[in-house]
Amino acid sequence: MSYPATRMRRLRRGAPLRDLVAETALTPADLMAPLFVREGIDVPQPIVSLPGVSQHTVDSLVKEARSLGDLGVRGVILFGVPATKDPIGSQAWDPDGIVQVALARLRDELGDTMVLAADLCLDEYTDHGHCGPLDRHGRVDNDAAIDLYGRVALAQARAGADVVAPSGMMDGQVAAIRAALDGDGFSATAVMAYSAKYASALYGPFRDAVDVTIAGGGDRRDYQQDYRNRRESLREVDLDVAEGADIVMVKPALSYLDVIAEVAARVELPVAAYHVSGEYAMIKAAAERGWIDGPAVALEQITAVKRAGADIILTYLAGELAGVLA
Ligand code: PBG
Repeated sequence: MSYPATRMRRLRRGAPLRDLVAETALTPADLMAPLFVREGIDVPQPIVSLPGVSQHTVDSLVKEARSLGDLGVRGVILFGVPATKDPIGSQAWDPDGIVQVALARLRDELGDTMVLAADLCLDEYTDHGHCGPLDRHGRVDNDAAIDLYGRVALAQARAGADVVAPSGMMDGQVAAIRAALDGDGFSATAVMAYSAKYASALYGPFRDAVDVTIAGGGDRRDYQQDYRNRRESLREVDLDVAEGADIVMVKPALSYLDVIAEVAARVELPVAAYHVSGEYAMIKAAAERGWIDGPAVALEQITAVKRAGADIILTYLAGELAGVLA
């Protein structure tokens, strides 16, 4: 009888030893919470397809951000739901637009205790639901869109954003935003670029959260990435780095761990990954049926995203995970 020479199980004996040899430690400081703020409501509105997540009033937003901060979460990223939409999405850069109002309030109430980021896109603000104005063929006009993104960046920076996060996947968006910010004295405002953002079916609940329906049953495959491609994401990341991004992001997270790992190995910038609405909703739905242990799966999945190479993880689980990890 020959026995195995190498005993892998030696280091798995007991939790203290396992902790000692663990390669990955998830902490609340890795997490950023996406938060929704809606114009014209008096009480928070629960989002049915995102159990535990709400569209906030400005007041309830401040409360939520404060309690996340108390749990050790260092940053929030805001999404606005405006009361009115138009073809160009002008509420996105209106100084009185909901995200600008919310940013200013958060800055007032929280000081510098938390990183305030703002998603920078137009889809929540356009009546057709696309990420920029349409040309006469009904395609998003790339260069018109990035001009408008520059305006949005300035409005968000003026309102107090530390970080702006362009998510429209327009070519040249990072350069246009960087130039707009630098041209107006906001050279300290960071750009977290959604660099490798895939046209994913996992954004469904998010679109409920921001009341977006893409006109004519359309989709975003004309500007977001094709999920069959890996190397293409590296070109996207390289371009964003060259254009001046401070942080690059891969989105969604779990179906793209290969991309996260490759990007982390390639760039010297911090890498963010977005565990998106559909990924969150799947955990909640299965847990609700008693088919999985929700908190255990949440911890396993978000730890896997960090293990793959993400430095920052945007997740709707931020609060509940921070509560467990703290
Ligand atoms: C675009 C944006 C989207 C998400 C973040 N920013 C939606 C989209 O591209 O259609 C999705 C986030 C999620 O699903 O949690 N502003």
